[in-house]
Amino acid sequence: MKQAKIVLDKDYQVSRVDERLFGSFIEHLGRAVYGGIYEPGHPLADELGFRTDVIEAVKKLGVPIVRYPGGNFVSGFHWEDSVGPVESRPRRLDLAWFTTETNEVGLHEFARWADRAGAQIMYAINLGTRGPEQARDVVEYANHLGGSRFSDMRIANGKKDPFNIKLWCLGNEMDGPWQMGQKTAREYGHVANEAAKMMKWVDPSIEVVACGSSSSEMPTFGSWELEMLDQCYENIDYVSLHRYYGNPTGDTPGFLARTMDMDDFIHSVTAICDAVKGKKHSKKQISLSFDEWNVWYHSNEQDKEVWKREKWGRALPLLEDIYNFEDALLVGSMLLTLLRNADRVKIACLAQLVNVIAPIMTRNGGGCWAQTTYYPFMHASEFGRGTVLKAVVDSPVYDCSDYEGVPTIDTAATLGDDGSVTVFCVNRDLSEPCLLDLDLRSFGSLKMVEHIVLHHDDVKAINTEDNPFNVAPTTVPVTALDSGRAEISVPPLSWNVLRFAP
Ligand code: AHR
Repeated sequence: MKQAKIVLDKDYQVSRVDERLFGSFIEHLGRAVYGGIYEPGHPLADELGFRTDVIEAVKKLGVPIVRYPGGNFVSGFHWEDSVGPVESRPRRLDLAWFTTETNEVGLHEFARWADRAGAQIMYAINLGTRGPEQARDVVEYANHLGGSRFSDMRIANGKKDPFNIKLWCLGNEMDGPWQMGQKTAREYGHVANEAAKMMKWVDPSIEVVACGSSSSEMPTFGSWELEMLDQCYENIDYVSLHRYYGNPTGDTPGFLARTMDMDDFIHSVTAICDAVKGKKHSKKQISLSFDEWNVWYHSNEQDKEVWKREKWGRALPLLEDIYNFEDALLVGSMLLTLLRNADRVKIACLAQLVNVIAPIMTRNGGGCWAQTTYYPFMHASEFGRGTVLKAVVDSPVYDCSDYEGVPTIDTAATLGDDGSVTVFCVNRDLSEPCLLDLDLRSFGSLKMVEHIVLHHDDVKAINTEDNPFNVAPTTVPVTALDSGRAEISVPPLSWNVLRFAP
């Protein structure tokens, strides 16, 4: 059996975890809103038309913020379309996803849903086809007390108290040719700066996220961040990162190593932010918002068929990736990467939440079930709060197509405010279990309280409405600690949550 050593010390800490690291994302795309969170007439819909089974599933994930309403969608969105009497809201062609947006769910409705789901809104503004003026207008609408055109409009629309949205995205993926209103870094940096200034003049308490590159694979990655930040550094608070991975060739070891790339991406953006800080002699440090991350590739071909059949339809079944067991392992590793970088990554959004590349699936008129990827997210969100510990890890390594020296044991650990310690670990080894030699001596007297395992013999195993728990976590017997040390075996290809309490 392979062996790995993990040493943790209560005094070796990376950072407090910002709870917004466990955020998610709902875009007006496919069946995320219509048929996902909102389905009036469904037997489980509440009086507002929201599916209560979906709300329950979201609540179990403990998602503190939800990015909304896009995504690519936002770059052609008019926020005014989404407020006021529902029957007078316009139907619009959405050029991002070639569908028709009916605006039945808008800002007021989504805020009520978010409230029921226990989440805050992270609101994205349109800096594609629109600009700083409409951005400041919507901040006034959402956050100003009253006595002005847009705040009074909100009150007339039935919401006396402000929505008080604290976190705002300055557009979406503005470097991408697929984006409505794509811009150069210089153009975007200037517009983002002006928008941020004006939005903060309306409400100085808000924070704003500027668009970084839409992926580290963009040819402009790096120069985009440098030039964009040069324009807007002092007025923004976070830079966004987006990254999706896929396994189209069926190379499981290579796929599970993709978090090496994610880690590099985070370090590169951090370095660029700090370089701009140095150049500007600034005292301000920019943090990162990894506001789109996930596995995304299963549905690409299917989407082309959907558009062939039904371009401009409403709530088309788009981006409905069905996640398998190996996807859950990579999602687990991506969460560990975010945790290990919690000193700079303060916000992250699993893209997305319901039906669209999502951990939660629904059938129109039917059930709601958890995909494989639901579980690592739920565990990390529940047990990954508190403070991230700096783990010293000695793990066997392997080489694969893109990387050399990939640790077979991927790990992150947190110290809860109640003194509990959680060690998360993915065993990337295809065939061998691994014996973890865990050294927790500095924590004094701890006992192991739970060992959760997510494992399946088939990496392609999925959950469906008819077989919803095919891939689901189990608990295995815990190991007794001997003077703060334990030897714990983790199965091949597994996600593990090792929990210790004082
Ligand atoms: O999450 C799906 C899409 O991926 C988003 O709309 C866009 O921002 C990204 O390209």
